[in-house]
Amino acid sequence: MPKNAKIIVVAMTEQGLIGASGHIPWQIPEELRLFRELTSGHALIMGRRTFASIGRPLPDRRTIVVSRRLPATPGIEICCDLPSALRLAESGAGKIFFAGGVGIYRAALPLADQLSISWIRGEYAGDTYFPPFSANEWQEINEEDYGLFRRVLYRRR
Ligand SMILES: NC(=O)c1ccc[n+]([C@@H]2O[C@H](COP(=O)([O-])OP(=O)(O)OC[C@H]3O[C@@H](n4cnc5c(N)ncnc54)[C@H](OP(=O)(O)O)[C@@H]3O)[C@@H](O)[C@H]2O)c1
Repeated sequence: MPKNAKIIVVAMTEQGLIGASGHIPWQIPEELRLFRELTSGHALIMGRRTFASIGRPLPDRRTIVVSRRLPATPGIEICCDLPSALRLAESGAGKIFFAGGVGIYRAALPLADQLSISWIRGEYAGDTYFPPFSANEWQEINEEDYGLFRRVLYRRR
């Protein structure tokens, strides 16, 4: 892995659903715990609406928000596009996690080294979907089953 491994982290249903009215459609504490474990000590890059839905900078992580209109906010760094967010994240030593939403995922798909997908079981209502991607470009390297979801780690083939 390069110094700043670039990893997309997402929880989605088999249909690709990731959001509902600005929030996550499910409440699965175990999944949030894994997200915290995976990303702590590293940098997160997220879109403005994802940051708004979290509502605060996440502890122990560098939070870089991509937005052209968000005013300066304590505890986060703001960039107007993904390339500048990436340059900023690469100035640090840790991994770089692309944490959504759709525009960030779409722009990050050609750049990421790995995908961490929590495949959520069950049917949920919602309005926001992970962008289409070619599964055959990604090789599964680890899978863990947590009952309500399974987390699969992929690396680029
Ligand atoms: N299930 C999951 O793992 C997961 C993860 C993340 C988010 N979500 C859900 O997804 C929804 C939010 O996602 P979203 O797609 O609606 O919004 P989003 O990507 O979080 O935010 C959109 C805004 O971010 C900025 N932005 C995003 N991509 C950009 C790019 N490539 N270049 C420049 N600016 C960019 C723009 O901000 P400005 O308008 O300020 O310029 C844009 O209006 C919520 O429901 C959230 O809960 C789910």
